Amino acid sequence: MFRTRTTLPVVLAALLAVSFVSVPVARAEDTPLAKAMEEMGDHYKALKKIIKDPAKNADSLALIDKSLAAAIISKQHMPKVIEKAAAGDKAKLIAGYRKAMAEVIATYCKLEIQLVEGKNEEAVETLKALHDLEEKGHEVYNP
Ligand code: HEM
Repeated sequence: MFRTRTTLPVVLAALLAVSFVSVPVARAEDTPLAKAMEEMGDHYKALKKIIKDPAKNADSLALIDKSLAAAIISKQHMPKVIEKAAAGDKAKLIAGYRKAMAEVIATYCKLEIQLVEGKNEEAVETLKALHDLEEKGHEVYNP
């Protein structure tokens, strides 16, 4: 009796422990592109909270600097979709990716100029345009 009562929890604990043993899996966030995109995403969320407020423009500008750095890194790494694409489709996909990321960078620069000029209302709209670029880009390159 004593044995059964103590053995069952031990067996269950062991099973639970085994289920948590980590098998090395190549997670999406392990790639340099995923890391840079994730950073851009975090900065985007932070920007969204403060972009309206002219008193926080210094913080917004610092976030834009970091977003630009992450966007440039992103542009240098090809998405998996391109790597896996048929040879005949690659050139078009590479050009499209470069163009879309260049547009993201140009839009962050536009945002920067608007904030430097104190045009916070316009900057709010530009941030929305960045979200549209993200959605459009992800449709093709991060489906
Ligand atoms: C402001 C614009 C953008 C933001 C904030 C953004 C954000 C993100 C985030 C948060 C992820 C998930 C990262 C993770 O796995 O944890 C991601 C992944 C990805 N994004 Fe973006 N993105 C933007 C624009 C774009 C554009 C324009 C493209 C393509 C032209 C693109 C292509 C990708 C790809 C391919 C991945 C998957 C990366 C991987 O798993 O290796 N993104 N992005």
